[in-house]
Amino acid sequence: MCGIVGAVAQRNITPILVEGLKRLEYRGYDSCGVALHVNGKLERARSTARVAELEKQIEKEHLSGFTGIAHTRWATHGAPASHNAHPHFSRDRIALVHNGIIENHDELRDELKTLGYVFESQTDTEVIAHLVDHMYTGDLFETVQQATKRLVGAFAIAVFSRDEPHRVVGARRGSPLIVGIGDGENFLASDALALAGTTDQIIYLEEGDVVDLQLQRVWIVDENGKPVQREVKTVHAHTGAVELGPYRHYMQKEIFEQPRAISDTLEGIASITPDIFGDKAYGIFKKIDSVLILACGTSYYSGMTAKYWIEAIAGVTCNVEIASEYRYRDSVPNPNSLVVTISQSGETADTLAALRHAQAQGMRHTLTICNAATSAMVRECELAYITRAGVEVGVASTKAFTTQLTGLFLLTLALAQIKGRLNDEQEAAQLKAMRHLPSAISAVLALEPQIIAWAEAFARKENALFLGRGLHYPIALEGALKLKEISYIHAEAYPAGELKHGPLALVTQEMPVVTVAPNDSMIEKLKSNMQEVRARGGELYVFADADSRITSGEGVHVIRLPEHYGLLSPILHVVPLQLLAYHTALARGTDVDKPRNLAKSVTVE
Ligand code: G6P
Repeated sequence: MCGIVGAVAQRNITPILVEGLKRLEYRGYDSCGVALHVNGKLERARSTARVAELEKQIEKEHLSGFTGIAHTRWATHGAPASHNAHPHFSRDRIALVHNGIIENHDELRDELKTLGYVFESQTDTEVIAHLVDHMYTGDLFETVQQATKRLVGAFAIAVFSRDEPHRVVGARRGSPLIVGIGDGENFLASDALALAGTTDQIIYLEEGDVVDLQLQRVWIVDENGKPVQREVKTVHAHTGAVELGPYRHYMQKEIFEQPRAISDTLEGIASITPDIFGDKAYGIFKKIDSVLILACGTSYYSGMTAKYWIEAIAGVTCNVEIASEYRYRDSVPNPNSLVVTISQSGETADTLAALRHAQAQGMRHTLTICNAATSAMVRECELAYITRAGVEVGVASTKAFTTQLTGLFLLTLALAQIKGRLNDEQEAAQLKAMRHLPSAISAVLALEPQIIAWAEAFARKENALFLGRGLHYPIALEGALKLKEISYIHAEAYPAGELKHGPLALVTQEMPVVTVAPNDSMIEKLKSNMQEVRARGGELYVFADADSRITSGEGVHVIRLPEHYGLLSPILHVVPLQLLAYHTALARGTDVDKPRNLAKSVTVE
């Protein structure tokens, strides 16, 4: 989603701004731009193409400067067009970029129009630029502190003025913003990754902070205008992991990285102990009587899978809620519940808001399963488990999902242990099974040629149905999500028992029905559901286990996974579904890593 980079230096900063934007590209965007202070004037370049095109434009126009800001935009207010791309100018004096959504933009726009401001875009951002200009006192830092008080909604902004050549001001409320400290130069960004290779000295701004960035000075005030010191952290953002290597797409690379990602996630875990989740975990796990999982997208499906584990293995009640629903629902808070947020990015606006909503309701025990160690989610939760998937670039989440499941299974075992439901023998057996996951996944990845053959048939379809039962129902949901996200084929998932309550009406010869069919206690039930599909002429594509007695025949295609993996089977069964989506998208020629309209990290509501 939207990304910000800003710099004040004594050298040409365009390479830093452009490189920063490139590092944020994977988050998804539809336009980009850069603004610079050039000889007492504001100059900018904007594009609805890729950052590489913007770079060419910058070179062609010989744009260079010592002070500037840059942005990748994911459209919310106004179409993805050049005139809506950031930076926005006000009266050729103020340049501004913004992440987030300003909720009172209509009201402010009306007010500013009556003051004579002319709007060139449909964005809520341009409103802030004009507001800053209108309130400008000649001291940008002071002005931004006052102007942001008038904003309702979420924002991270970076702004500079034609009249103050060596100064960039940043402010955040609800959207992340960091400061990068250099030697006689300073930087701003929405993510430390943007500054990888430029500086590793990072300050994470807190809610309500406003920062004054000059060549030799970084000055921060909090939401009350009080000067504050924020800790400078050394952050090693993963620069190398953004390379594509021998793969055609990041998604393909990330699917194939799963054995490594899981073994990294399990590294150092010699036994099951609550400490894995933090020093205070033992006391908290002892106290809690239930679990409430909050997440969005793929992370929500890992939460759904965990519900089956947590209730069956640990005997603890577990509810899973879509964060964007939970935050606005009048729910009944349970202070003895462990609130678990699951997030790849740790930045998803709805998940963060749901966490804060739960906390505001008196639910103090919070844990996050997150892939970004320095994210707001980790900072705001009492306990954390950091998955070690590495940077995930493909918008369609893959290795983040399987590592989340790995972390959630560990959580299940830790809870089971505390509740007296995991003896030493069981612990040893479960850990052994977990450690074998990387090689089990490698064996599943070897099925790729068979899956490619299926993908060719799928590429010609416009609809698909996914079925699963029990633990594998969320896996069917995730398989359908993957297919629709990147191939644009309409795909739905159902718990197979629900088939006859509606979706069976859709089943014809034209409807491929993907069935996740591990050899577990539900297999006989599932076979009956498959018969229901066949009887209506539907074509079945079944992911079975080696030892199951499901055979290929007319209208029934079977791929066998090498082994049945018991409770951990969802981690294996999702992998062929990821590959099916990937190869189907490839056959249809879509932009696999950057599917239309979607963003990697959804930092707006
Ligand atoms: C976006 C991404 C998904 C992701 C979801 C939740 O929709 O495209 O891949 O699952 O956000 O993101 P999170 O970072 O919180 O896991």
